[in-house]
Amino acid sequence: MKGLILAGGSGRRLRPLTYTGAKQLLPVANKPIIFYGIKALVKAGIQELGIVVGETAKEVQYIVGNGEKWNIKISYIPQKAPLGLAHAIKISKEFLGDEPFIMYLGDNILKEGIEDFVHQFENNKPNALILLTKVPNPQEFGVAVVDENGAVKQLIEKPKEPPSNLALVGVYLFDSQVFTAIEKIKPSRRNELEITDAIQWLLDNRFSVEAHMVKGWWKDTGKPDDIIEANLLVLENIEAVNKSSQKDSEISGRVRAEQGSVIEKSVVRGPVIIGKNSKIIGSYIGPFSSIGNNVIIENSEIENSVIMDGAQIKNVEKRIDRSIIGKDVVINVTTKSPRTHKFILGDQSYVQIIK
Ligand code: G1P
Repeated sequence: MKGLILAGGSGRRLRPLTYTGAKQLLPVANKPIIFYGIKALVKAGIQELGIVVGETAKEVQYIVGNGEKWNIKISYIPQKAPLGLAHAIKISKEFLGDEPFIMYLGDNILKEGIEDFVHQFENNKPNALILLTKVPNPQEFGVAVVDENGAVKQLIEKPKEPPSNLALVGVYLFDSQVFTAIEKIKPSRRNELEITDAIQWLLDNRFSVEAHMVKGWWKDTGKPDDIIEANLLVLENIEAVNKSSQKDSEISGRVRAEQGSVIEKSVVRGPVIIGKNSKIIGSYIGPFSSIGNNVIIENSEIENSVIMDGAQIKNVEKRIDRSIIGKDVVINVTTKSPRTHKFILGDQSYVQIIK
């Protein structure tokens, strides 16, 4: 079976972070989000993977590569505009051929793998198999109505008044009937060919659509808070391997510190991950923090946050909590005169200062 990962889209809800990069490459526990999807597909036995890319094609290709890292073959399929998930399948027809395939949205992370999901498809051979989970905010997702026997009755994309709390998780299995469905549907109000509509077409035309319930957590990393939450969930299961050099520090809980990292006069309470060659001096790094490579944190306190490569945070008096700091950002508190705030912030940056 071939795999298809969607890594296009504009990442509008993750601005400003996505002005300078693809949302699927944002780090969670110091790894690009898309790597979690690739790993799940590889574990489920996928050896040939197509990645649909948009405006950020170059960098996705640069970071993900040709598949060598996972011992698989990766090809790239350019999508000229974000015209919907079903459109992404349509343009991948040549790559996919007539065989069943698995589609995985590149910004989704699942705790448990997808092996059970794939087994259900192989055993029952439905035309489509969807993955569902209960959520408190179904209006933000595709929503499914399922009867008491678990049969799928209806699917609606982001309904204002959701008929159930079952969200469509961004992993789908299809056979080639999906191409027929995609030919029949029309673009939605947001001018996209919706995969939800294509699956609804299959239902309406008596093709078999089954559902599988997610075990463990699932995160669609569409918004900044989702990144912080996904980071927390992934860090809950990290392995502690501490390769840092330490001086006068107190380190407890699961801490993964990479080669070349230095922790001096600091307190680090896991789960925490610290990237290569980063320096933590006179600081507190609290649970659920991911510190990237080549970061400097001096005389500051950080918790529940994602700090990306090359960032520098110095002398910040109050604790930094639930924050995302992009690559090479500098936050520095000085005692220099004049005593003014100085900000050089890109469009849609967000700063909160407590008096
Ligand atoms: C897409 C799908 C939606 C699904 C979601 C899962 O939405 O359209 O049905 O529930 O992915 O991540 P998007 O995140 O592209 O708005």
